Amino acid sequence: MQETSPQALKSNPVSHCELRCWILDTGVPQEDADGTFLGYVGSCVDITDRRQATVYGDKVQLQQVMSNLLLNAFDAMDGRPAKDRRVTVFITLESPLVVRVAVRDRGAGLPNDRLATIFNPFVTSKPEGLGLGLSISRTIVEMHRGRLWAENNADQGATFYFTLPVGVPCS
Ligand SMILES: Nc1ncnc2c1ncn2[C@@H]1O[C@H](COP(=O)(O)OP(=O)(O)OP(=O)(O)O)[C@@H](O)[C@H]1O
Ligand SMILES: [Mg+2]
Repeated sequence: MQETSPQALKSNPVSHCELRCWILDTGVPQEDADGTFLGYVGSCVDITDRRQATVYGDKVQLQQVMSNLLLNAFDAMDGRPAKDRRVTVFITLESPLVVRVAVRDRGAGLPNDRLATIFNPFVTSKPEGLGLGLSISRTIVEMHRGRLWAENNADQGATFYFTLPVGVPCS
């Protein structure tokens, strides 16, 4: 995670961001910077109109949101066999003007009373965690006029969702 405090985030020059740039090649093993295996990502884009799959904002910041969510998902599946460490990214339209991205893992999920508090700064369960990834990610998404939240899956693991308005420049 980049060490940016929520207070330090500013709105940078607006550029368009094709949501397809977040789609990783399905089945290709993901590694961290040291080459350590993290797991696999599968992707599903359910938007056919290219204009609706484009949001406007700070590409680097939005990419940071995605990488924070993916790293958390892989951390949550750390104890599982390598072949079971799978994250699925779904990109759909929540409404004609709102895109929704879902990052779904097969980890242990979260106690219900932590689903909200994990977005507070410095909340972590990891020995070397800063507890800032989600708090910064929420700040970034809200700066882009979207929402970020978490739910437990009915079967296993958790899904983190965020929305962004289609084709609206952030201010
Ligand atoms: N996909 C997930 N499944 C289960 N728990 C999660 C998941 N994502 C986040 N959490 C919980 O939320 C906490 C806060 O996450 P957050 O990303 O803010 O900080 P962190 O990952 O601990 O540290 P860092 O600042 O390095 O990201 C995590 O420590 C973990 O307990
Ligand atoms: Mg994190």
